[in-house]
This record gives sequence, structure tokens and C-alpha cells, in this order.
Amino acid sequence: MRFYPPEYFDDKINGYTAIRTLPLASAMGAEILDVDIANISDEQFQQVKDALFRYKMIYFRGQTNMTIEDQEALTLKFGDFGTDAYTNGIEGHPNVQRLIKEASTVVDWIFGDGWHTDSPFLEKPPAVSLLQSLDIPPYGGDTWWTNAELAYDLLSDKMKEVISGLKVHMSAAWVLQNVTKAKPVMNDLSVGEIELTMDQQKMVKGNFHPLVRTHPVTGKKSLYCDCSYSMGIEGMTQEESKPLLDFLGWHVTREEFNCRLRWEPNMLVIWDNRLCLHKAFNDYDGYRREMIRTIVDGEIPA
Ligand code: SIN
Repeated sequence: MRFYPPEYFDDKINGYTAIRTLPLASAMGAEILDVDIANISDEQFQQVKDALFRYKMIYFRGQTNMTIEDQEALTLKFGDFGTDAYTNGIEGHPNVQRLIKEASTVVDWIFGDGWHTDSPFLEKPPAVSLLQSLDIPPYGGDTWWTNAELAYDLLSDKMKEVISGLKVHMSAAWVLQNVTKAKPVMNDLSVGEIELTMDQQKMVKGNFHPLVRTHPVTGKKSLYCDCSYSMGIEGMTQEESKPLLDFLGWHVTREEFNCRLRWEPNMLVIWDNRLCLHKAFNDYDGYRREMIRTIVDGEIPA
């Protein structure tokens, strides 16, 4: 089986003259070559943007010149900054979140644990997420992504009919339970070194979004559900919605639809948060990991 015809990933056919792509897995992901993010040209950016929507997740190695300001500038080429629901950002850079776990820190639950899409409980979840690696363990601390567009395409026509028009309740209730279990003082929340400043009530109330959403750029449909924030389906009881969401949560994260990245320092990853789920691994106690993240504002999913 092959998910995409070979032409789909052919740089010549795709008109990529200013960048080169190296697919990471059959389902998704590609390394982008020949780009220095700190000096990216307009032509390169247009091709990078096209590659993002084609591969769903793209990454760049060896970005040693890249500063926080360069990441901010690149983020703004995709659109306005999104509002991060969890943190306030770092000093002087309110739209940049630092994700950090020190070598000495041992926690049951890390930021990004469990398959999720970024902040789907918001009215307008982020469209695109960008993550730069500063300090990386020698092994462990990988990130996994999955392609929910492919997952939708490979459902049966009957299942597509069943879920068409349904709305999923996206809420941070379970995630906040995990956070508060680790540290039950409501005004002093953190995950390891990451201080969380958030409106918990709003995040738990969440929003109802289409279970099948249509990408505003590509027009393609994808599943919009995950194993962290999808709590129920509008108009259904928990007993009715749970088996369906359990199935979809399993299906959307099937290994065939995934790619997995072994990080190096000075990498930048960009993913299409409208249709990617991702998951961080809590498997590197004793080593330090530091990343910086920015997000691009999205629209109300339709
Ligand atoms: C995230 O969920 O945005 C963080 C992923 C990671 O740290 O690998």
C-alpha cells in the first residue's frame, strides 16, 4: 500500500526550485533542505508554506543562526501570533513559549504528553505551530505526529456518513486533571519548570467543533478529534459518544499515519495544527530538554 502517489512528493513536479524536500515517512513529514531560516527569501517561504500543507509536518536541521526574533518573524509570515492558552510567554517575547525540563526534574506528566492537537478547546485553535530545539537529550525526547487528513480519507464511506455533521466537545478537563494531580495548588500550576498561567474555567468549558473539519487552504477534510481533549459529541450521551471517540482516537493515531522525529539541537519543526496530532515522550529523565514554541492564530473550525 502507498498513501500518496510518488508524484505527490516530487520537488520538480511541485515546482520547488528554491528548496529541496526529503520525505520522512510514507504518511507525512519531510526535512526541508537548502533553507537558512534567518535569511529565508520570499520565494523560499512560498515553497516552504506549500510543503507544509503537502507534508503536514516539516523540519529544518542545523539552524545555528536562528534567533528567537527569527522564529517570531517566520511565524508572522504565516499569520498573526496565536494566543497560547497555557503560558504567558517569555520576558520580552510574550508570544514565545519556553518548554523546558531540567535534567533533575522527574514528573509523571510532561507538557505535550498524550496525543493531542494544540488547544482545540479554544474558539479559534492555532493554525500552525513552530517548535525550535535548543537543548536536546542524547537520546529520548522524540516527538510523534499523525496525519488526521489521511485518517479521514481511509475511513469507510459509511463511517464518513455517520460522523458527517457531528460536533465534538473539546475541553481541557482531563489535561488539567493531570496537571492538578501533579500539583493541586490552583494558583501555582506548573509542569516541571513550565509555569502555567491560564483561565481554567474557560478551558474546561471549551468549545464544540466539527468532528470532520475542512482545511481552509487545501479544501481537504480531516478528522478533528484526539485522545486528550475530545470529551463528547453534541447531542449524545457519554455512553453513546465514548465508543465512537475511542475508535476515532485509535484510528487517527494508527502507526501507519505517523512520523517520528529524533531531535537534534538547532532544529525547527513546523506542523499544520489544523490536521496534525502530536505527542511528546516522557522518557529522558536525567537529561535536559529545552524548546521554544510559537503558534499562528487560526480560525473557527468549519
Ligand atoms: C507540544 O505539545 O507542543 C510539545 C511537543 C514536544 O515538546 O515535543
